[in-house]
Amino acid sequence: MTTEENVTTDPEALRRRATDALLTARRRTTLLTSCVEGPELTAQHSPLMSPLVWDLAHIGNQEEQWLLRAVDGREAMRPEIDPLYDAFEHPRAERPRLPLLAPQEARGYAAEVRGRALDVLEKASFAADGGARLTRSGFAFGMIAQHEQQHDETMLITHQLRTGAPALTAPDPDPLDAPFGGPAEVLVPGGPFTMGTTAEPWALDNERPAHTRHVPAFHIDTTPVTNAAYMEFLADGGYRDERWWAPAGRAMLRDGGIEAPRFWRREGGQWLRRRFGVTEAVPPDEPVLHVSWYEADAYARWAGRRLPTEEEWEKAARFDPVSGRSTRYPWGDADPTPQHANLGQRHLRPAPAGSYPLGESPLGVRQLIGDVWEWTASDFLPYPGFVAYPYREYSEVFFGPDHKVLRGGSFAVDQVVCRGTFRNWDYPIRRQIFAGFRTARDAYPQEAS
Ligand code: AVJ
Ligand code: FE
Repeated sequence: MTTEENVTTDPEALRRRATDALLTARRRTTLLTSCVEGPELTAQHSPLMSPLVWDLAHIGNQEEQWLLRAVDGREAMRPEIDPLYDAFEHPRAERPRLPLLAPQEARGYAAEVRGRALDVLEKASFAADGGARLTRSGFAFGMIAQHEQQHDETMLITHQLRTGAPALTAPDPDPLDAPFGGPAEVLVPGGPFTMGTTAEPWALDNERPAHTRHVPAFHIDTTPVTNAAYMEFLADGGYRDERWWAPAGRAMLRDGGIEAPRFWRREGGQWLRRRFGVTEAVPPDEPVLHVSWYEADAYARWAGRRLPTEEEWEKAARFDPVSGRSTRYPWGDADPTPQHANLGQRHLRPAPAGSYPLGESPLGVRQLIGDVWEWTASDFLPYPGFVAYPYREYSEVFFGPDHKVLRGGSFAVDQVVCRGTFRNWDYPIRRQIFAGFRTARDAYPQEAS
C-alpha cells in the first residue's frame, strides 16, 4: 500500500528550485557571518560549536567535493584544506586551534566554489532517469543546498550561545487573532499509513524508502507544549521529583545543575530568558524551547502522557484519512508559504501555540512544521530497505540508541530542508538546539477503529 505523494519531476522546475535554494542559502550564510566582527568569527562561543568561520569554509568545501569533484570530475582546488573541514577528523572542540582559512579567505573560497558550481548546475541534466545517479532530478544540488541550510541553523545556534551585544534582529511572528479554539488533542485512527518517501527527489537517504506502518490509534496534542504549561511543571517541583526522570536524565540535572530550560533564569518571582542577546520575560503562549529529550520525557510523564513515537508523529503530520494517502506536508502537497509555517529564520522565535490555521493537518494538528523541532520517543534507526547514499557519514554512522529523533523543523530551518518525512537526530541531553515537543497518549481499545 505505498501511496506516494505528488512531487515535481520537471527538470527545468527542479533546476530553478535548486538555483533558488542555493542562492537563498548563501544569502543567509552571508548574513550570519557578516553581522559580527572578524574576531567573533574565529572565536569559539561554546565548546559545543565550531567557530563561525569553520562552518563557512566547510559549506564551501562540501560544495566543492560534491558539485565540482563528484558531479563534474574536477581536481581539488586546495587539497591541503580538506582535512581541516572534515567533521569526522576534528571534533568541534578542536576546531578553533586548527590553521583555518581566515574570514576573508573563507569567503573568497566559498564564493569561488559557488561560481563554478552554478556553471555545473546550468549544464547538468536534472532528468529523473538516465545519466549519472548523483544528478538525477538534481539530487546533488538539492543535497548541497540542504547542507548549507543545516549549517545556517547550526550557525544560528552559535549566535544564540554567543554573549555580548545583539547581532541579529527579525520581526516577531503575528500574535494570535483569537485564542486557539480547537481541542487540546485529537484521535489519530489506528491502521496502516505510508511512512517515508521514495518519490520526493531531494529526500535524504534516511527518509527512504516509502513503506507501510501499522500504527495503533493514539491521541496527540494539537499544538506544541507551551511555556505556560511547562512553567506549571516547574512550579510543581517537577525537576526535583525523581518519579518523572529517566536515570540518565537525573544524572544530567545533577551534573549540569539544571533547574529549568536552557537560557532561562528566575528573577523577582518571574521566569526570564536570554534570546539572541536580549533578556525578556518568558512568553506564556509560545512553544517551550531549549529543553533536552530528558526534560521533554519528564514533562510528559508528569502530565500523565508520553512523547509520540516517530511513526506516530509522521502519521499525524502526513496521513490524510479521506484519501488514505500520505501528503508531503500536513496541509497537503504544496510547498510551504509564510501562511503555513514559521520557517526560514524569518522570525527568531516560535509563533504562539495555535498559530498557522492554514498549516493544520486534516485531523486538526497545528504547527507540526516549523516553530520548534519536536522530540520523539524514538531512537534514530534505518527504515526497512535503507541504503546509505551518497555517503555513510550523513546518516548511517549515527543510527542506534545514542540519538533520539526530532521532527518537523524549527523557525531556524529553511523549507528546502523541511518536509513531513525529514528526520533530524541528536543526543538526548542536547538543549542548545531549537527543540521543544508535544505529547501523546494511547487510545482506549474502543476508540481504536
Ligand atoms: C542532521 C542536523 C544532525 O548538523 O550534525 C551537517 C546535518 N550533516 N553536515 C548535523 C549535517 C553534515 C546534521 N544533522
Ligand atoms: Fe556539514
